[in-house]
Amino acid sequence: MITVVGMGPGAAAHQTRAALAAIRQAEVLVGGQRHLAAFPDFRGETRCLNADMDGLMRWLEQNPHRQIVVLASGDPLFYGIGKRISEHFVGLPAKGQNVRIISGISSVQYLCARILLDMNDIYLTSSHGRKPDFDWLLQHEKIAMVTDNVIGPYQIAQEIRLRGQQRRMVIGENLSQENEQIVCLSAEQVVQRGDMDYGLNVVVILNER
Ligand SMILES: C[S@@+](CC[C@H](N)C(=O)[O-])C[C@H]1O[C@@H](n2cnc3c(N)ncnc32)[C@H](O)[C@@H]1O
Repeated sequence: MITVVGMGPGAAAHQTRAALAAIRQAEVLVGGQRHLAAFPDFRGETRCLNADMDGLMRWLEQNPHRQIVVLASGDPLFYGIGKRISEHFVGLPAKGQNVRIISGISSVQYLCARILLDMNDIYLTSSHGRKPDFDWLLQHEKIAMVTDNVIGPYQIAQEIRLRGQQRRMVIGENLSQENEQIVCLSAEQVVQRGDMDYGLNVVVILNER
């Protein structure tokens, strides 16, 4: 059985009991270094995640009888490894693995809660490892985006300026961690700050009102 577990935004207080129960029962814990380090008392086998997703899929297929837990940040099905694993195994019992997913609190959900912003009609997307279509994206009133260090707050603000829009941006960095920082700025102000070093961040884009 493969269990993909959503770890929430990072702090232990935001992990679910279902997630912790699955981890306790795991024979093998698979995850990024940051996630594995959160469970120093885990006595089973660990496997560090790297960019070789095909290799991971092969290894998962080869270990059908083990209780494997794959740790994912936030919610596994929101731009996370849950999509890759479920698409790989769904409808393919020949591959011999059952998959279940335990949802977690996404970084976007966490940020919306912190700034008291309802998620109704919000357009959810990602610039993590991909370039979004900003012409399409910026037609939406309310957008939330997970990012990476190639397309982050500064680059997003530049795309907004390029289209002559007046937008407010909420930037949530290192959410749920001790060094959490949440700022609300106009896109123009984000451009003026320059291409500064942001921590792990989520950006919410709103219309200026
Ligand atoms: C591959 S995506 C995974 C998103 C994740 N599945 C979720 O639901 O939040 C990774 C991105 O999520 C965002 N992220 C995850 N945890 C975060 C945190 N604690 N603070 C700010 N952003 C976070 C960052 O934009 C990061 O680059």
